[in-house]
Amino acid sequence: TATEEIKKGLAGVVVDYTAVSKVNPETNSLLYRGYPVQDLAANKSFEEVALLLWNGELPTPSELTEFSAFERANRALDPRVKAAIDLLPTDCHPMDVGRTAVSVIGANHPQAENSSPEAELLKAKELFAAFPAVVAYDQRRRRGQEPVAPREDLDYSANFLWMTFGEEAAPEVVDAFRVSMVLYAEHSFNASTFTARVITSTLSDLHSAVTGAIGALKGPLHGGANEAVMHTFNEIGIDKEESREDAAKRAKSWMEDALAAKKKVMGFGHRVYKHGDSRVPTMKAALDRMIEHYGRHEMLGLYDGLEAAMDEAKAIKPNLDYPAGPTYHLMGFDTEMFTPIFIAARITGWTSHIFEQRAANALIRPLSAYNGVEQRSL
Ligand code: CMC
Repeated sequence: TATEEIKKGLAGVVVDYTAVSKVNPETNSLLYRGYPVQDLAANKSFEEVALLLWNGELPTPSELTEFSAFERANRALDPRVKAAIDLLPTDCHPMDVGRTAVSVIGANHPQAENSSPEAELLKAKELFAAFPAVVAYDQRRRRGQEPVAPREDLDYSANFLWMTFGEEAAPEVVDAFRVSMVLYAEHSFNASTFTARVITSTLSDLHSAVTGAIGALKGPLHGGANEAVMHTFNEIGIDKEESREDAAKRAKSWMEDALAAKKKVMGFGHRVYKHGDSRVPTMKAALDRMIEHYGRHEMLGLYDGLEAAMDEAKAIKPNLDYPAGPTYHLMGFDTEMFTPIFIAARITGWTSHIFEQRAANALIRPLSAYNGVEQRSL
């Protein structure tokens, strides 16, 4: 019967080809356009990785110079976007702000309905450049602060932190932020990317596809997990004075209780990786550098305690959101801002998939097996 063929959650179903990235859970590897993600995170700027994802090749020096200049010239918060954000309550979820901002940017775009490859690439680059100011402004307004203008002398990551906090971040902090952006950039047919591809498959526009993707990313089973990890840390309680060992003990017993209560603990597990997320070692190393930089070893205790207890009880490994959450916390972001940072990174992957979907499109329209009441008379 048709019902026997149903794969709930499309688990294990191969939906289409992609040349953007390759996830191999067996070898625990993730390649962007053929390059291992950990090598890109070690050696390349986020701007270079964005160009790699869009174009299929790393940029030449002159291509990079040209794009850097473009990115720096397109960072300012559009007054129309600011006006729209100002209509939203400061206690709404920041993902709602990000979703609204992309929608407003799309509605005001002079080429909104032009889906030629050139127009789409330009829109993707503009969105890449413009989105950090949305996150930065939203973080600031929640703290009753005025927006901070971008600085053209800073690269993408340094400027993101500058616009958010109004002070120059230390080079180690900028670097950890860059690493997180590279790791969050792309991950094949995850829920939000698939959403973007479904929307594109109807021949809708790029900003609609990204807006929909943001809706999918918001949920805690997907991008919202980085925020949820921090809620767990906060629930356990962060005490800056506590030793690493004591923090680990408390975290361990919290996890044991959570698992006994059959709770799903966010930041652990993955639909594709069953032996560990390929991105975690690189992000964990960045978190370690931040823990060292800020002198916050109790955070490492909480991290290790939860991980060890989960491993012992269920052998479930952390995913990228697990080290990313506490990293953003140490940098000074409010917990609710973590997933909007993920948007800024994933704009690169989403738009690369939008281009790919458009270039070889077929309307995505699956079937369902009806299990409601049989036909009846009025
Ligand atoms: N905590 C406790 N148990 C878990 C967890 C978890 N985080 N993840 C999986 N399990 C258990 C689950 O309860 C089930 O056990 P049983 O067979 O006894 O019922 C088994 O492991 C299989 O889990 P599943 O939910 O059927 O597997 P899935 O492939 O549908 O789940 C997942 C993948 C990511 C939805 C799930 O692991 C989860 O809910 N994790 C927490 C949310 C999270 O961290 N999401 C971020 C995903 S990665 C980055 C991103 O996309 O942003």
